[in-house]
Amino acid sequence: MPGDQDNKAAGDEPRPVILLAGAAHGIGRAMALQARQRGARLAICDIDQAGLQALTSELAMGEDALLLPVDITQAGSVADFVTAALARFGRIDAAICNAGGMISLVHDGLVTSNIRAFKDIPPADWKSIVDLNLYGALNLAHAVLPGMLSRGQGRIVFVSSVSGLVGGAGLSVYAAAKGGVIAFAKSLAREVSAAGVSVNSVAPGGVATRAFPAGSPSAERRVQSVAIGRLGLPDEIANVAIYLATDAPPYLTGEVISVSGGPP
Ligand SMILES: NC(=O)c1ccc[n+]([C@@H]2O[C@H](COP(=O)([O-])OP(=O)(O)OC[C@H]3O[C@@H](n4cnc5c(N)ncnc54)[C@H](O)[C@@H]3O)[C@@H](O)[C@H]2O)c1
Repeated sequence: MPGDQDNKAAGDEPRPVILLAGAAHGIGRAMALQARQRGARLAICDIDQAGLQALTSELAMGEDALLLPVDITQAGSVADFVTAALARFGRIDAAICNAGGMISLVHDGLVTSNIRAFKDIPPADWKSIVDLNLYGALNLAHAVLPGMLSRGQGRIVFVSSVSGLVGGAGLSVYAAAKGGVIAFAKSLAREVSAAGVSVNSVAPGGVATRAFPAGSPSAERRVQSVAIGRLGLPDEIANVAIYLATDAPPYLTGEVISVSGGPP
């Protein structure tokens, strides 16, 4: 298989191949760096080309990392990305769908917040929020599953949100999409776990990324409702996702793990 000569690191440890969608910033970037520390080979996509460029330099992994600009909402582009990853590495051990967000990303460097009362969100925006946060997960799972099922092993991890579990004022459409991801993951786990593929979700609470810029009123407000008294760090969420993608026992499937500084 292509890439099989790279399967073993020094000490004969197998090197996992992790596919990661949405890694140029924030939580996904922390996942990429943690995965590299673990010796994984990486297939990474993101919509932000400049951010990918910066990550490529930071990872400095050469042929062990494939980084491609892909819009997760486009099923055909996601399928092409998975094909390219399989051509490079021969297999995908784990796929993490982190691409998503409460913000409308990034047109000419502009980031706008989607935290708005439902009555103020026009239908056209419902679609873009659901496309990104729910269809993105469906697109990625649909593209990676055939290879995992034919090998009889694989791990799929979705990044949802505590708002998908308990709701969030100002987050109605986003929360609906993230709740959909959790229900999708649980359903998929029922379909494919016996065939060797685990499917789980991580549900972050408020995390200090550009979604909650340090010192901003939204960050200050969010902290008020966190038991531990601060926002989460990207590394704290990444740690759980990388665990699910690598070391978690196969018996852990169909779960959602909330990482939110206290009960959601
Ligand atoms: N930050 C939080 O408080 C928080 C809370 C709960 C859940 N989450 C979820 O965690 C994940 C990461 O959030 P973050 O705060 O690190 O956000 P972020 O905006 O810093 O990172 C999201 C990444 O996804 C990429 N992306 C966005 N749209 C894309 C698309 N169409 N195709 C491919 N890539 C795309 C972005 O370029 C970026 O690299 C998201 O799914 C978000 O919904 C975040």
